[in-house]
This record gives sequence, C-alpha cells and structure tokens, in this order.
Amino acid sequence: MEKIVVEPLELLTERLRLRTPRIEDADAIESIVADPRVALTTASIPHPYPDDGAKGFILHVQNVASRDRRNLAIVLRDRNKLIGMVGYQTEDLEAELAYMVSPVHWRRGYASEACMAIIAHIFSATEAKAVTARAMTDNKASETVLRKAGLRWQSELPVELPVRSGTFLTSFWRLSREEFQSL
Ligand SMILES: CC(C)(COP(=O)(O)OP(=O)(O)OC[C@H]1O[C@@H](n2cnc3c(N)ncnc32)[C@H](O)[C@@H]1OP(=O)(O)O)[C@@H](O)C(=O)NCCC(=O)NCCS
Repeated sequence: MEKIVVEPLELLTERLRLRTPRIEDADAIESIVADPRVALTTASIPHPYPDDGAKGFILHVQNVASRDRRNLAIVLRDRNKLIGMVGYQTEDLEAELAYMVSPVHWRRGYASEACMAIIAHIFSATEAKAVTARAMTDNKASETVLRKAGLRWQSELPVELPVRSGTFLTSFWRLSREEFQSL
C-alpha cells in the first residue's frame, strides 16, 4: 500500500502541546529514554540507550508518520519544555498506545492528559475501531493512566520481551469507539 505523506501534527490540551518531534529535540528525548526508570518498564526502549539513538528515533518517527501512526512530543505549554512522548500505531483497525514521561514530571497527570488527547484524535482522525494498550502488571502508574483514560482491563498474559531479555506478566487494555462515544 502506498504511504500517504502527512503533515506535522499538533494537539493542544489545557497544559500540554503534543507535536511532531524535531531533530533539535534529540537531547531532551535522549535524557528521558536513557533513564532506567523510563526504559525498563517499556517493551521497546533499549537500556543502555545507544549514543545518538534519539536522533535516529526522531528521523524514524518523522518518516513513518501516517494517519494511522503517530509519535508526538509532550511539551509543557507554559515553559515550552519537552517532558515525554505519546503515540499510537494501528493494525487491523486497532490503535495501540505508547507513552512515557520524564520522572521529574511524574504524578502530575501529564501522561493521562496526553493519552486522553491522543485517544480523542485517534477516534476523530482515523477509522480505528478501538484503542488498545498493554502494560507490565508491575507498572501500576501505567495501568492507572490507562484506566483514567477510559480503557478497560481485558486480560493478563506472560509476554516475552526481547529488548528486556525476559518474560513479563502483561495486562491488555482496550477502549472501543462505542465505549469512547459513551464516556
Ligand atoms: C507510566 C507513566 C507514563 C505515567 O506518567 P505520569 O505523568 O506520572 O502519569 P499520571 O500522573 O497521568 O498518572 C499516573 C497515575 O498513577 C498513579 N501511580 C503512580 N505510581 C503508582 C503506583 N506505584 N501504584 C499505584 N498508582 C500509582 C499516580 O498517582 C497517578 O494517578 P492519580 O492521578 O489518580 O493520582 C510514567 O510513569 C512513565 O513514563 N513510566 C516509564 C515508561 C512507561 O512505563 N511507559 C508506559 C509503558 S506501558
């Protein structure tokens, strides 16, 4: 299927600007993903993080962006400070969420605010029938974010994560378009 080139995206919430990352964001992103408190609860961020990995990540994100796949920087509107990333990738009309926030800014509701905005975007801008997510069951902050954003727990399974060199009990979460509309 031919890839449709999409413009950079910007979503605004009360406190946050969610926008396509730029190459100048590399140092800020690298300082977040290199932190083991962030990397080790994800299924995809290597640890230790490779030198210059963030630049490659940003170029990749810009290159693969489509209506059905976005990765956006989470920026504090009042300070213009990048504090994390949020994104989704769609397969078979299900959009799977991914997100991270710098530990300096944890527990202020930023991940929840970013997830709610991107979920609204998914249901308004794509044909997705559902938003899904998964989290290690030890990652209670992530599970709380998903619950607050309206996703419902579906099941728990051990999942092998090659990047983490192990198998982790993982919870699966889902919010259908109909459920979203009735929220
Ligand atoms: C998961 C993550 C994005 C949450 O970011 P955040 O901005 O702190 O999230 P929020 O503040 O919106 O919500 C976190 C909620 O979890 C709660 N929480 C945090 N730690 C918790 C714990 N150990 N047990 C139970 N609840 C917890 C917070 O109190 C908050 O709930 P509240 O608003 O009702 O008080 C952040 O911890 C992170 O980046 N972790 C590393 C990367 C990661 O795990 N990404 C998700 C992969 S599935």
